[in-house]
Amino acid sequence: MTHILKIDHIEKYYGNKSNVTKAIDDISFEVQNGEFIAIMGASGSGKTTLLNCISTIDTVSAGHIFLHDKDVTEIRENELARFRRENLGFVFQDFNLLDTLTIRENIAMALTINKAPVQEIDSRVEQMAKKLDILPILDKFPYQVSGGQKQRCACARAMINKPKLILADEPTGALDSRSAQLLLTTMQTMNQELGATILMVTHDAFTASYAKRILFLKDGQIFTEIQRGEQSRKQLFGKILDVMALLGGDLSDAR
Ligand SMILES: Nc1ncnc2c1ncn2[C@@H]1O[C@H](COP(=O)(O)OP(=O)(O)OP(=O)(O)O)[C@@H](O)[C@H]1O
Ligand SMILES: [Mg+2]
Repeated sequence: MTHILKIDHIEKYYGNKSNVTKAIDDISFEVQNGEFIAIMGASGSGKTTLLNCISTIDTVSAGHIFLHDKDVTEIRENELARFRRENLGFVFQDFNLLDTLTIRENIAMALTINKAPVQEIDSRVEQMAKKLDILPILDKFPYQVSGGQKQRCACARAMINKPKLILADEPTGALDSRSAQLLLTTMQTMNQELGATILMVTHDAFTASYAKRILFLKDGQIFTEIQRGEQSRKQLFGKILDVMALLGGDLSDAR
């Protein structure tokens, strides 16, 4: 199988010599094309740091991260914005929609910045909107649509550039359980029907149970991982709870 992402012995330290925090302590793993991975772990275990290093928002202290064959740890500062725009899609916790733009304009933003032809932008936005069931609301503003529609708009925006990788940090963190379920179903559609490769950070077992593989972090290291395999989501949910119990009370304190 071909990997899309390879994390190669990365370490991340914060602080200075007299006060060092080791946020990531030698993590390695590979992500195959089309995977949906959840990264779990207690508060402070290094989840966000890991995601930020992958997304080039933060830099590693040691090790390498390859997206396809490109070593993202070596990308020059002035090329980072472009690299992210062309390769990564982000689903933010608060969705980060711009209130003064229509849903259509919000989704189209990355294409507009890349100066794609207007007709192509329109047809791609409408295609994506159709798949995520927001076609009828494209010309409304964010304040005129429901929470679930906003979420799907944010997902469409993350997907519009056909990114190699979708990254999400606690995407359900601010949502009630029904909205969380809606978002997770949409992310599942993105993965299964649109072929998106997704890396999602969460400390919530229900959220993680939508993924196909789950990595558990503890003190900046990979503690263990489990695969969905042939199990149902409910069975996987049970397994996740088992691992959380093994990890100790840590995870339940995370909120
Ligand atoms: N900018 C920073 N400066 C110093 N220390 C940091 C910084 N960011 C994170 N840390 C430390 O690195 C460790 C990992 O933090 P990280 O944010 O990755 O945890 P997390 O698993 O995302 O936690 P949470 O579930 O609370 O979001 C923690 O000990 C944290 O205090
Ligand atoms: Mg975090």
